[in-house]
Amino acid sequence: MEVSGRVKNASFKILADNVSSQVAIHTQYGGVYPMLAKREHIKNLPILLEKTLKEAKLYEKKKPVDVIAVTSGPGLEPALWTGITFAKELAKKWKVPLVPVNHMEGHVLSPFGKNKGKFKIKLEKKKFPVLALLVSGGHTQLIVMKDWFKYDIIGETRDDAVGEAFDKVARMLGLPYPGGPQISRLAEGLRSKIPSSKKHALEFPSVNSLLFSPSLSRKSSNQPAQAPKGFLKEESFRLPRPMLKSKDFDFSFSGLKTAVLYLIKKIKKIDEKTKAQIALEFENSAIECLTYKTAKAIEKYKIKTMIVAGGVAANTHLRNEMKKVTGKGVRLMFPTRELSTDNSIMIGMAGYLNYKKAPKKKYKIRADGSLRLGKMIK
Ligand code: KG4
Ligand code: ZN
Repeated sequence: MEVSGRVKNASFKILADNVSSQVAIHTQYGGVYPMLAKREHIKNLPILLEKTLKEAKLYEKKKPVDVIAVTSGPGLEPALWTGITFAKELAKKWKVPLVPVNHMEGHVLSPFGKNKGKFKIKLEKKKFPVLALLVSGGHTQLIVMKDWFKYDIIGETRDDAVGEAFDKVARMLGLPYPGGPQISRLAEGLRSKIPSSKKHALEFPSVNSLLFSPSLSRKSSNQPAQAPKGFLKEESFRLPRPMLKSKDFDFSFSGLKTAVLYLIKKIKKIDEKTKAQIALEFENSAIECLTYKTAKAIEKYKIKTMIVAGGVAANTHLRNEMKKVTGKGVRLMFPTRELSTDNSIMIGMAGYLNYKKAPKKKYKIRADGSLRLGKMIK
């Protein structure tokens, strides 16, 4: 990527962008295996670099870039070390600075990016405070930003990340890895079949009705359960909304996942229809937990800009529900679907901004699997 400008007014141009996905390999195992991931990284990195430099027409140059950005955490340390070692060698060879990037900061900045062409990052002071809901395979966090690069974590998952829960539930249903898009596909398929007059049959009241009309109990706002023909009745597979009413901004998804396991055991014979119903109910529950706490945080912190990022931000239902809870006066920002899941553009953006902030800074770069963006405030 070609970059210019100051921290608060930076311009970017994508020269080439490639992702070497390991999904096909990890699908065979139903998840990511650190050592396998590391081996694949070592094999793929030089190939990917050559391809990308050629596409960017930089391959023949002696010093093809001015700065290198590399992810230093959080994540799987063996995989992080592979990237860091490779980047260190390149930085030495080309005699250019190397900037470490927090993967989660990349996600926070992803809505400002584009997959190709040119774009600018401009966020005026009046757009703060910003609330970021980061939802990925490893994280579920609510973060308040009072300014650029200032992160207060106000809530996070106490156990599984929401993306992890999507992946595990998908696995229980015999769906391939990564499970998020699979669950979403089944859930959306069923959602679109429910006539709007009967939407309540398979769905709980919207987060809005719970939040803004507290007198409306679930029962009274629900029409009698009436599943479409051939489907099980709603009550028979209702799932919990863990920690929905807790006073903090934390989440919990491990109990929800276990509830799905018991449900599957109870139903015994899982056909395509029941799979779709479980996917729908699971997705409704997970997304309701996310949007409910987000809505509370928007109100408490008088949020002006809302960022939703990370792999699960690609989820259609989450996108639709977030629109309902943000309302007027709050600018809602999502990355493109391509920039929701892991990508190098967001790391390049974060790397450049951090470089501009402190161009002379000498970093001691090491992999930190549990690197955090900021302090937890309660
Ligand atoms: O940010 P990401 O690409 O990698 C991590 O940093 O973890 O997020 C990957 C996660 C996976 O758990 C995947 O199942 C989930 O994002 N995901 C989705 C969707 N697309 C990806 N979850 C729900 N709905 C989707 N459409
Ligand atoms: Zn990620």
